[in-house]
Amino acid sequence: MIVNGKPTRTIWLGDDGYTVEIIDQTRLPHEFIVVRMETLDDAARAISHMLVRGAPLIGATAAYGMALAMGQDASDEGLENAYKVLYATRPTAVNLRWALDDLKALLAPLSADARQAAAYARAADIADEDVEMCSSLGEHGAAIIRDIWENKGKPDRINVLTHCNAGWLATVDWGTALAPVYKAHDAGIPVHVWVDETRPRNQGASLTCWELGQHGVPHTLIVDNVGGHLMQHGQVDLCITGTDRTTAAGDVCNKIGTYLKALAAMDNGVPFYVGLPGPTIDWTITDGVRDVPIEERDPGEVTRLTGLTDDGKIETITITPAGSPAANYAFDVTPARLVTGLITERGVATASIEGLKALYPERVG
Ligand code: MRU
Repeated sequence: MIVNGKPTRTIWLGDDGYTVEIIDQTRLPHEFIVVRMETLDDAARAISHMLVRGAPLIGATAAYGMALAMGQDASDEGLENAYKVLYATRPTAVNLRWALDDLKALLAPLSADARQAAAYARAADIADEDVEMCSSLGEHGAAIIRDIWENKGKPDRINVLTHCNAGWLATVDWGTALAPVYKAHDAGIPVHVWVDETRPRNQGASLTCWELGQHGVPHTLIVDNVGGHLMQHGQVDLCITGTDRTTAAGDVCNKIGTYLKALAAMDNGVPFYVGLPGPTIDWTITDGVRDVPIEERDPGEVTRLTGLTDDGKIETITITPAGSPAANYAFDVTPARLVTGLITERGVATASIEGLKALYPERVG
């Protein structure tokens, strides 16, 4: 996508052909800072401290992390260690495991001398493939937005509600939930996005608003509890979210609060779509509530807020009484029955084993 007039991805190889550069997403929207990763530990830290985040970007960063690790120690022990260190960074997004398994399967049979070059080449391919998949799912999703807009008689504005950040910042480019929005906007459909702020880390307020603004997409920030009210008053034409792990049966694990939006959407007859590239499907599980590991993060993210003061300083404040405990569950599961459709790079599937099987016949037994 374009940042300050320049085509930009979220991760790219540095000019030296060895280091890997990322945007520090903890500093957005107030500062645009590029960080250079030189080691396995840099990549692991970037994921665990959420300089990069979003399921597809976590996968791409892990792939580059393996490449950086092979530059440090390409022995069998080095490979095992890199896998373990990166795998431990975040538990929920399955793209992490997918990318690490992919790299390990590629590198393990190679001689140590050949591993570094092979890892860089595969990491670059994973990044490019992510861009292609997100672009393609964007086309399929934009067709849905167009249909709804046309069926409603082409109103002046078609309202999409989204949760968290599932835009290009969460992927290598384009995004998952927001790829259809960008494609629809670029095709002249008057799309407007209701952006859930997405407490506690506020990815909606800080990241989604920023990237929609950079692309000129009309949007309005709302607090997390507004969606149901808007739906009751006909102000939401469809919801689109991303996902960190979708089961083979179509249950969707995404940022905490997604489930409540899906319930409200069902109650109000609002279509609830989820955008995802194939690597976000976990083919090994079918029961999302039982089987998806839900990340629990530092309660300090709930009790404190960080933002820009009127005099231009970034400060963190505490909003709770001293001693009140907080819990910080980062994701929840939306059962397949609440999902209208899964928008993938191969087309739109019903959220079911049969639906996914039809699109990915090679993956389901
Ligand atoms: O905790 P985060 O910011 O990594 O969570 C991101 C999300 O929940 C996204 O919606 C999800 O990764 C889908 S992204 C394209």
